[in-house]
Amino acid sequence: MFTTTWTAPSNIAFIKYWGKKGPQLPANPSLSMSLQECVTKTQLEVTEHDEFTVEVLFNEKPSEVLTKKLFDYIKSIPDLDISKKKFKITTSNTFPHGTGIASSASGMAALALCLAEYHKSLSASEFDIEFFKEASSWARLGSGSACRSVFGGFNTWGECGESDRSDLFATPLSVHPSFKKLKDSILVIDDQEKKVSSTAGHGEMKNHLFSAARFESAKKHFSRMVSALKSGDMEEVGTLLEKEALELHGMMMTSPHPYILLKPNTLAAIELVQDFRIQTKIPLFFTLDAGPNLHLIYLDTHTSKVETFIQHELLPLAKKVIHDVCGEGPRKC
Ligand code: DP6
Repeated sequence: MFTTTWTAPSNIAFIKYWGKKGPQLPANPSLSMSLQECVTKTQLEVTEHDEFTVEVLFNEKPSEVLTKKLFDYIKSIPDLDISKKKFKITTSNTFPHGTGIASSASGMAALALCLAEYHKSLSASEFDIEFFKEASSWARLGSGSACRSVFGGFNTWGECGESDRSDLFATPLSVHPSFKKLKDSILVIDDQEKKVSSTAGHGEMKNHLFSAARFESAKKHFSRMVSALKSGDMEEVGTLLEKEALELHGMMMTSPHPYILLKPNTLAAIELVQDFRIQTKIPLFFTLDAGPNLHLIYLDTHTSKVETFIQHELLPLAKKVIHDVCGEGPRKC
Protein backbone atom coordinates (compact mmCIF):
# COMPACT_ATOMS: atom_id res chain seq x y z
CA MET A 1 0.00 0.00 0.00
CA PHE A 2 1.13 3.57 -0.78
CA THR A 3 -0.03 6.55 1.25
CA THR A 4 0.85 10.25 1.35
CA THR A 5 -0.68 13.61 2.30
CA TRP A 6 -0.05 17.07 0.82
CA THR A 7 -1.45 20.52 1.36
CA ALA A 8 -1.53 23.01 -1.54
CA PRO A 9 -2.55 26.66 -1.63
CA SER A 10 -5.17 28.56 -3.54
CA ASN A 11 -3.74 31.31 -5.78
CA ILE A 12 -4.90 34.69 -7.03
CA ALA A 13 -4.05 35.58 -10.63
CA PHE A 14 -2.37 38.95 -11.16
CA ILE A 15 -2.35 38.32 -14.94
CA LYS A 16 -5.39 36.25 -15.89
CA TYR A 17 -5.47 33.00 -17.83
CA TRP A 18 -8.64 33.42 -19.89
CA GLY A 19 -8.90 31.33 -23.05
CA LYS A 20 -7.38 27.97 -23.95
CA LYS A 21 -5.71 26.30 -26.88
CA GLY A 22 -5.04 22.59 -27.53
CA PRO A 23 -5.03 20.11 -24.65
CA GLN A 24 -5.59 22.40 -21.66
CA LEU A 25 -2.95 24.93 -22.69
CA PRO A 26 -3.28 28.68 -22.05
CA ALA A 27 -3.94 31.21 -24.83
CA ASN A 28 -1.76 33.74 -22.97
CA PRO A 29 0.83 33.73 -20.18
CA SER A 30 -0.52 34.23 -16.64
CA LEU A 31 1.01 35.08 -13.28
CA SER A 32 -0.27 34.49 -9.76
CA MET A 33 0.49 34.71 -6.06
CA SER A 34 -0.02 31.62 -3.91
CA LEU A 35 -1.90 32.18 -0.64
CA GLN A 36 -0.96 31.05 2.84
CA GLU A 37 -4.25 30.42 4.66
CA CYS A 38 -6.58 29.18 1.90
CA VAL A 39 -5.32 25.64 1.30
CA THR A 40 -6.57 22.13 0.48
CA LYS A 41 -5.29 19.08 2.37
CA THR A 42 -5.45 15.77 0.51
CA GLN A 43 -4.53 12.25 1.52
CA LEU A 44 -4.03 9.57 -1.13
CA GLU A 45 -4.03 5.84 -0.41
CA VAL A 46 -3.32 3.40 -3.23
CA THR A 47 -4.02 -0.30 -2.69
CA GLU A 48 -4.20 -3.43 -4.86
CA HIS A 49 -7.73 -4.02 -6.19
CA ASP A 50 -9.66 -6.09 -8.78
CA GLU A 51 -9.87 -3.14 -11.14
CA PHE A 52 -9.09 0.60 -11.33
CA THR A 53 -11.34 2.25 -8.74
CA VAL A 54 -11.57 5.71 -7.20
CA GLU A 55 -13.21 6.62 -3.89
CA VAL A 56 -13.41 10.24 -2.71
CA LEU A 57 -14.24 11.58 0.74
CA PHE A 58 -14.74 15.36 0.77
CA ASN A 59 -15.05 16.85 4.27
CA GLU A 60 -15.37 13.27 5.60
CA LYS A 61 -18.37 12.48 3.36
CA PRO A 62 -18.42 10.39 0.15
CA SER A 63 -18.81 12.60 -2.94
CA GLU A 64 -20.24 11.03 -6.09
CA VAL A 65 -19.61 14.12 -8.21
CA LEU A 66 -15.94 14.29 -7.22
CA THR A 67 -15.53 10.52 -7.55
CA LYS A 68 -16.64 10.65 -11.19
CA LYS A 69 -14.57 13.74 -11.96
CA LEU A 70 -11.40 12.35 -10.35
CA PHE A 71 -11.87 8.89 -11.89
CA ASP A 72 -11.71 10.51 -15.36
CA TYR A 73 -8.90 12.81 -14.28
CA ILE A 74 -6.62 10.09 -12.88
CA LYS A 75 -7.29 7.93 -15.94
CA SER A 76 -6.20 10.80 -18.19
CA ILE A 77 -2.74 11.12 -16.63
CA PRO A 78 -0.10 9.63 -18.90
CA ASP A 79 2.37 7.08 -17.49
CA LEU A 80 0.56 6.58 -14.18
CA ASP A 81 0.25 2.95 -13.04
CA ILE A 82 -3.48 2.60 -12.34
CA SER A 83 -4.24 -0.98 -13.38
CA LYS A 84 -5.77 -3.10 -10.62
CA LYS A 85 -5.42 -0.25 -8.12
CA LYS A 86 -7.83 1.53 -5.82
CA PHE A 87 -7.20 5.26 -5.25
CA LYS A 88 -8.77 6.51 -2.03
CA ILE A 89 -8.72 10.31 -1.81
CA THR A 90 -9.60 12.09 1.43
CA THR A 91 -9.72 15.85 0.98
CA SER A 92 -10.80 19.03 2.78
CA ASN A 93 -10.25 22.79 2.53
CA THR A 94 -9.18 25.20 5.26
CA PHE A 95 -11.48 27.82 3.76
CA PRO A 96 -15.12 27.12 4.47
CA HIS A 97 -17.41 26.08 1.62
CA GLY A 98 -19.42 29.05 0.40
CA THR A 99 -16.70 31.68 0.62
CA GLY A 100 -16.65 32.08 -3.15
CA ILE A 101 -13.03 30.90 -3.18
CA ALA A 102 -12.61 28.28 -5.88
CA SER A 103 -11.13 25.09 -4.51
CA SER A 104 -10.21 23.67 -7.91
CA ALA A 105 -6.72 25.24 -7.98
CA SER A 106 -5.67 24.12 -4.49
CA GLY A 107 -7.59 20.84 -4.77
CA MET A 108 -6.13 19.72 -8.09
CA ALA A 109 -2.64 20.85 -7.02
CA ALA A 110 -2.76 18.87 -3.76
CA LEU A 111 -3.99 15.75 -5.58
CA ALA A 112 -1.43 16.13 -8.38
CA LEU A 113 1.37 16.34 -5.77
CA CYS A 114 0.10 13.10 -4.17
CA LEU A 115 -0.10 11.38 -7.56
CA ALA A 116 3.35 12.61 -8.63
CA GLU A 117 4.81 11.24 -5.40
CA TYR A 118 3.04 7.90 -5.99
CA HIS A 119 4.47 7.87 -9.51
CA LYS A 120 8.01 8.77 -8.35
CA SER A 121 7.96 6.27 -5.51
CA LEU A 122 8.07 3.58 -8.16
CA SER A 123 11.53 4.82 -9.16
CA ALA A 124 12.92 7.71 -7.05
CA SER A 125 11.62 9.62 -4.05
CA GLU A 126 13.25 13.02 -4.28
CA PHE A 127 11.23 16.20 -4.30
CA ASP A 128 13.38 18.13 -6.75
CA ILE A 129 12.33 20.69 -9.34
CA GLU A 130 11.55 17.91 -11.83
CA PHE A 131 9.08 16.44 -9.32
CA PHE A 132 7.28 19.78 -8.96
CA LYS A 133 7.28 20.36 -12.74
CA GLU A 134 5.60 17.00 -13.25
CA ALA A 135 3.07 17.71 -10.48
CA SER A 136 2.40 21.13 -12.05
CA SER A 137 1.74 19.68 -15.50
CA TRP A 138 -0.57 17.03 -14.02
CA ALA A 139 -2.41 19.68 -11.95
CA ARG A 140 -2.87 21.66 -15.18
CA LEU A 141 -4.76 18.74 -16.72
CA GLY A 142 -7.28 18.95 -13.87
CA SER A 143 -7.64 22.75 -13.87
CA GLY A 144 -5.36 25.22 -15.66
CA SER A 145 -4.85 27.62 -12.75
CA ALA A 146 -3.98 24.67 -10.46
CA CYS A 147 -0.58 24.30 -12.15
CA ARG A 148 0.49 27.55 -10.42
CA SER A 149 -0.52 26.19 -6.99
CA VAL A 150 2.23 23.56 -6.69
CA PHE A 151 4.65 26.35 -5.72
CA GLY A 152 4.63 29.12 -3.12
CA GLY A 153 5.30 32.82 -3.76
CA PHE A 154 4.77 34.12 -7.30
CA ASN A 155 4.51 31.88 -10.36
CA THR A 156 4.05 32.20 -14.07
CA TRP A 157 2.44 29.79 -16.50
CA GLY A 158 2.64 30.06 -20.28
CA GLU A 159 5.14 30.77 -22.98
CA CYS A 160 6.36 34.36 -23.09
CA GLY A 161 9.56 34.19 -25.11
CA GLU A 162 11.73 33.13 -22.16
CA SER A 163 13.17 29.64 -22.44
CA ASP A 164 12.38 28.57 -18.86
CA ARG A 165 8.66 29.46 -19.07
CA SER A 166 6.31 26.88 -20.57
CA ASP A 167 2.68 26.26 -21.50
CA LEU A 168 2.95 22.82 -19.88
CA PHE A 169 3.75 23.74 -16.27
CA ALA A 170 4.21 26.73 -13.98
CA THR A 171 7.58 28.26 -13.08
CA PRO A 172 8.41 30.23 -9.91
CA LEU A 173 9.23 33.92 -10.30
CA SER A 174 11.57 35.69 -7.91
CA VAL A 175 10.27 39.12 -6.89
CA HIS A 176 11.39 42.23 -4.99
CA PRO A 177 11.69 41.62 -1.21
CA SER A 178 8.92 44.17 -0.49
CA PHE A 179 6.40 41.76 -2.09
CA LYS A 180 7.40 38.67 -0.11
CA LYS A 181 4.59 39.33 2.42
CA LEU A 182 2.11 40.97 0.04
CA LYS A 183 -1.39 40.87 1.50
CA ASP A 184 -4.63 39.64 -0.09
CA SER A 185 -7.78 40.39 1.92
CA ILE A 186 -10.66 38.62 0.21
CA LEU A 187 -13.93 40.50 0.50
CA VAL A 188 -16.65 37.86 0.13
CA ILE A 189 -19.51 39.82 -1.43
CA ASP A 190 -21.47 36.83 -2.65
CA ASP A 191 -20.97 33.15 -1.85
CA GLN A 192 -23.47 31.57 -4.26
CA GLU A 193 -22.24 29.17 -6.91
CA LYS A 194 -21.55 31.22 -10.03
CA LYS A 195 -23.92 30.84 -12.96
CA VAL A 196 -21.21 30.32 -15.61
CA SER A 197 -18.17 28.16 -14.80
CA SER A 198 -14.63 29.30 -15.65
CA THR A 199 -14.31 26.37 -18.04
CA ALA A 200 -17.37 27.65 -19.97
CA GLY A 201 -15.92 31.19 -19.83
CA HIS A 202 -12.66 29.99 -21.41
CA GLY A 203 -14.77 28.37 -24.15
CA GLU A 204 -16.44 31.71 -24.94
CA MET A 205 -13.02 33.11 -25.90
CA LYS A 206 -12.90 30.78 -28.95
CA ASN A 207 -15.36 32.89 -30.96
CA HIS A 208 -14.95 36.15 -29.10
CA LEU A 209 -14.93 39.41 -31.03
CA PHE A 210 -12.05 40.74 -28.91
CA SER A 211 -10.03 37.57 -28.21
CA ALA A 212 -6.98 38.52 -30.31
CA ALA A 213 -6.84 41.97 -28.67
CA ARG A 214 -7.22 40.41 -25.21
CA PHE A 215 -4.40 37.89 -25.75
CA GLU A 216 -2.11 40.69 -27.00
CA SER A 217 -3.01 42.89 -24.04
CA ALA A 218 -2.43 40.05 -21.56
CA LYS A 219 1.03 39.44 -23.03
CA LYS A 220 1.94 43.13 -22.64
CA HIS A 221 0.53 43.26 -19.11
CA PHE A 222 2.48 40.09 -18.29
CA SER A 223 5.89 41.53 -19.18
CA ARG A 224 5.11 44.85 -17.44
CA MET A 225 3.93 42.94 -14.34
CA VAL A 226 7.10 40.82 -14.24
CA SER A 227 9.25 43.98 -14.40
CA ALA A 228 7.19 45.76 -11.72
CA LEU A 229 7.29 42.75 -9.38
CA LYS A 230 11.05 42.52 -9.78
CA SER A 231 11.71 46.26 -9.29
CA GLY A 232 9.29 46.70 -6.36
CA ASP A 233 6.97 49.13 -8.20
CA MET A 234 3.69 48.75 -6.27
CA GLU A 235 1.90 51.51 -8.24
CA GLU A 236 2.54 49.69 -11.51
CA VAL A 237 1.63 46.30 -10.02
CA GLY A 238 -1.65 47.77 -8.73
CA THR A 239 -2.50 49.57 -11.97
CA LEU A 240 -2.05 46.32 -13.89
CA LEU A 241 -3.99 44.32 -11.30
CA GLU A 242 -7.06 46.51 -11.77
CA LYS A 243 -6.75 46.59 -15.57
CA GLU A 244 -6.56 42.78 -15.66
CA ALA A 245 -9.59 42.39 -13.38
CA LEU A 246 -11.71 44.74 -15.50
CA GLU A 247 -10.54 43.27 -18.81
CA LEU A 248 -11.44 39.78 -17.56
CA HIS A 249 -14.96 40.86 -16.66
CA GLY A 250 -15.17 42.94 -19.83
CA MET A 251 -14.51 39.75 -21.78
CA MET A 252 -17.38 38.01 -19.96
CA MET A 253 -19.76 40.88 -20.66
CA THR A 254 -18.87 40.92 -24.38
CA SER A 255 -18.79 37.12 -24.89
CA PRO A 256 -20.83 35.46 -27.64
CA HIS A 257 -23.18 34.51 -24.77
CA PRO A 258 -22.71 37.58 -22.55
CA TYR A 259 -22.91 37.33 -18.79
CA ILE A 260 -22.18 39.40 -15.70
CA LEU A 261 -20.65 37.98 -12.53
CA LEU A 262 -20.16 41.32 -10.77
CA LYS A 263 -22.73 42.38 -8.14
CA PRO A 264 -23.83 45.93 -7.28
CA ASN A 265 -21.78 45.72 -4.08
CA THR A 266 -18.68 44.72 -6.07
CA LEU A 267 -18.88 48.06 -7.89
CA ALA A 268 -19.68 49.96 -4.69
CA ALA A 269 -16.60 48.44 -3.01
CA ILE A 270 -14.38 49.22 -6.04
CA GLU A 271 -15.37 52.91 -5.81
CA LEU A 272 -14.58 52.99 -2.11
CA VAL A 273 -11.17 51.36 -2.68
CA GLN A 274 -10.27 53.87 -5.38
CA ASP A 275 -11.44 56.82 -3.20
CA PHE A 276 -9.45 55.48 -0.23
CA ARG A 277 -6.34 55.32 -2.42
CA ILE A 278 -6.73 58.91 -3.59
CA GLN A 279 -7.46 60.27 -0.12
CA THR A 280 -4.81 58.38 1.88
CA LYS A 281 -2.14 57.83 -0.83
CA ILE A 282 -1.95 54.25 0.46
CA PRO A 283 -1.43 51.92 -2.52
CA LEU A 284 -4.45 49.65 -2.03
CA PHE A 285 -5.63 47.94 -5.20
CA PHE A 286 -8.25 45.35 -6.12
CA THR A 287 -8.37 42.36 -8.39
CA LEU A 288 -11.11 39.86 -9.19
CA ASP A 289 -11.17 36.28 -10.34
CA ALA A 290 -14.14 34.82 -12.17
CA GLY A 291 -16.64 35.96 -9.55
CA PRO A 292 -17.99 38.97 -7.65
CA ASN A 293 -15.55 38.90 -4.72
CA LEU A 294 -12.83 41.54 -4.42
CA HIS A 295 -9.24 40.59 -3.66
CA LEU A 296 -7.64 43.60 -1.95
CA ILE A 297 -3.91 43.66 -2.54
CA TYR A 298 -1.54 45.79 -0.42
CA LEU A 299 1.89 45.88 1.19
CA ASP A 300 2.12 44.40 4.69
CA THR A 301 3.46 47.75 5.94
CA HIS A 302 -0.07 49.19 5.49
CA THR A 303 -1.90 46.32 7.21
CA SER A 304 -3.31 48.19 10.17
CA LYS A 305 -4.77 51.15 8.21
CA VAL A 306 -6.14 48.94 5.45
CA GLU A 307 -7.73 46.45 7.85
CA THR A 308 -9.44 49.31 9.69
CA PHE A 309 -10.76 50.65 6.37
CA ILE A 310 -12.02 47.20 5.35
CA GLN A 311 -13.70 46.66 8.71
CA HIS A 312 -15.54 50.01 8.74
CA GLU A 313 -16.19 50.82 5.09
CA LEU A 314 -16.17 47.59 3.08
CA LEU A 315 -17.47 44.89 5.41
CA PRO A 316 -21.00 46.39 5.46
CA LEU A 317 -21.12 45.57 1.72
CA ALA A 318 -19.95 41.97 2.19
CA LYS A 319 -20.65 38.68 3.92
CA LYS A 320 -17.18 38.39 5.39
CA VAL A 321 -13.49 39.06 4.84
CA ILE A 322 -10.62 36.56 4.82
CA HIS A 323 -7.21 38.11 5.46
CA ASP A 324 -4.54 36.17 3.58
CA VAL A 325 -0.95 36.75 2.55
CA CYS A 326 1.61 35.53 0.02
CA GLY A 327 2.29 31.92 1.05
CA GLU A 328 5.15 29.47 1.22
CA GLY A 329 3.54 26.83 -0.96
CA PRO A 330 2.66 23.16 -0.68
CA ARG A 331 3.72 21.02 2.22
CA LYS A 332 4.08 17.26 2.54
CA CYS A 333 2.43 16.30 5.85
C1 DP6 B 1 -10.24 33.86 -13.89
O1 DP6 B 1 -8.23 27.31 -14.04
O2 DP6 B 1 -10.56 27.56 -13.15
O3 DP6 B 1 -9.27 32.45 -12.24
O4 DP6 B 1 -8.68 25.31 -16.63
O5 DP6 B 1 -11.12 25.29 -17.08
O6 DP6 B 1 -10.27 24.60 -14.81
P1 DP6 B 1 -10.04 25.48 -16.05
O7 DP6 B 1 -10.21 27.00 -15.56
P2 DP6 B 1 -9.62 27.72 -14.30
O8 DP6 B 1 -9.64 29.25 -14.78
C2 DP6 B 1 -9.14 30.27 -13.96
C3 DP6 B 1 -9.58 31.58 -14.46
C4 DP6 B 1 -9.22 32.77 -13.60
C5 DP6 B 1 -7.86 33.34 -13.98
C6 DP6 B 1 -6.63 32.62 -13.47
O9 DP6 B 1 -6.66 31.98 -12.40
O10 DP6 B 1 -5.59 32.78 -14.13
